[in-house]
Amino acid sequence: MIDQSPPWKALVEHVAELKHMRELFDRDPGRFDRFSAEGAGLFLDYSKNRITDKTMNLLFDLAGEADVAGRVEAMFSGSRINTTENRAVLHVALRADADQFILVDGINVVEQVQGVLDQMDVFTGKVRSGEWKGYTGARITDVVNIGIGGSDLGPRMVTAALDHYRQQDLDFHFVSNIDGTHISQVLGKVRPESTLFIIASKTFTTQETLTNAHTARDWFLRSGAAQADVARHFVALSTNEAAVREFGIDPANMFAFWDWVGGRYSLWSCIGLSIALAVGMENFRELLAGAREMDKHFRTTPFEHNIPVLLALLGVWYRNFHGLESHAVLPYDQYLALLPAYLQQADMESNGKGVNRDGIPVTHATGPILWGEPGTNGQHAFYQLLHQGTTVVPCDFLVAVNPLHAVGEHHTILLANFLAQTEALMRGRTLAEAEAELADLEPQAREALAPHKAFPGNRPSNSLLYERLTPRTLGSLIAMYEHKIFVQGVIWGINSFDQMGVELGKQLAGVILPELRGGAAGVHDASTLGLIRHCIDRRKS
Ligand code: F6P
Repeated sequence: MIDQSPPWKALVEHVAELKHMRELFDRDPGRFDRFSAEGAGLFLDYSKNRITDKTMNLLFDLAGEADVAGRVEAMFSGSRINTTENRAVLHVALRADADQFILVDGINVVEQVQGVLDQMDVFTGKVRSGEWKGYTGARITDVVNIGIGGSDLGPRMVTAALDHYRQQDLDFHFVSNIDGTHISQVLGKVRPESTLFIIASKTFTTQETLTNAHTARDWFLRSGAAQADVARHFVALSTNEAAVREFGIDPANMFAFWDWVGGRYSLWSCIGLSIALAVGMENFRELLAGAREMDKHFRTTPFEHNIPVLLALLGVWYRNFHGLESHAVLPYDQYLALLPAYLQQADMESNGKGVNRDGIPVTHATGPILWGEPGTNGQHAFYQLLHQGTTVVPCDFLVAVNPLHAVGEHHTILLANFLAQTEALMRGRTLAEAEAELADLEPQAREALAPHKAFPGNRPSNSLLYERLTPRTLGSLIAMYEHKIFVQGVIWGINSFDQMGVELGKQLAGVILPELRGGAAGVHDASTLGLIRHCIDRRKS
């Protein structure tokens, strides 16, 4: 295992050598220039981390030890690196140059991808222009994406992030939860004759999605529409044509993708249809182009300047050598409000693993708990803990240098807050500085208050800046995180591309469902049995 390797052992010893970051900055004026990187439209300042040149060199050695470079090539060339499911991992093919060749089982998947992109182009053009009519002849005004996990989070996050570019006479809604409140709320807002339902499911077997899809179709048919009208109002995004047909959607209204696209990496495929409907195919292709730029940066840039690799190594540094369990993503960009939720699936479903690729329990920590909120809202909620709490949370701060609006001084104030927070986290405030600020007080009062006003500092952050939030920048940003997650999975020796941990709960729900419907009680622990009984007894029929 990687934790037995020489660079790992050297990193363990190196932790104690590090000085407070304040001191590192005071001693070394070149720190910002040395510990920053630029590529694919993004600028990363990682100088406010607990690192020196030695730290970074050891981390690069660790990447070498794990053969990150070799694994990157294995992914890009279509090797079946998802070993438990015997699948290639080729979300990069979804945004590859049209003239590239990537073979899976002798088939050039780039050609397949381009075919579906062309299909999306024709369809989105018709809906957006009003040529595609609902069953009464009305144009489509509302699009409802029904999907969950990767078939929801990506399209929902990107549609919100690119709202500035949205066609204004089309509204978008996302239904994911099996809680009937979700679909009821959305159906309460839309009209059957002008609504397009997108049923998004890689497997087309997901309980939540199929239940919501049936509810939507029943609602649609109850409005007076005929069965034949379903074709104008329901389309499917899936790898499973047989299940789409069985649901009653004509395969002519189906957009395909392939088993080498992981659900949480699928927004670049037809799963992004709602994005393309919202912002147009030209902007969707820009999103892909941004991701492609990041793919090139990731594949070809030396690790010293490679943004996803640097972020991954810093994450490993804190997770494995400082024992820090969580990581915050803090976009100072209202458009990116859903980015942390999106990244929770991308990161935690990928790297929340306890055995290595050979099935042996790992002897080191793997993926962190990821969370976050847009700034400045977070500042008035949980930043107290970030600054003075006993838990250290490494953070990514993200901001556009220029806004997409022209509202007064807002953006300058936003930038000031963004810059101030990382400085405060890094510098902190010493007891002496706190006392100096309280010079007006009596000595006794000063001494009593100063410890409460002191900040330990030395709290790590990455600052990620982009010129403005365009589809291209967003594509690059998302791909950056995908590759960061990939590199971390390689270092930890795990398979980042399956998600067996979600199965047990699904199976048990399947056992409990008939019991709730009145079937015989199954074999459960006393707590679960008691809760089942409680629900049955108190349920109003
Ligand atoms: O339950 C987890 C999961 O399999 C995710 O990985 C996936 O994104 C989600 O369910 C939805 O799956 P599908 O697109 O097949 O409905």
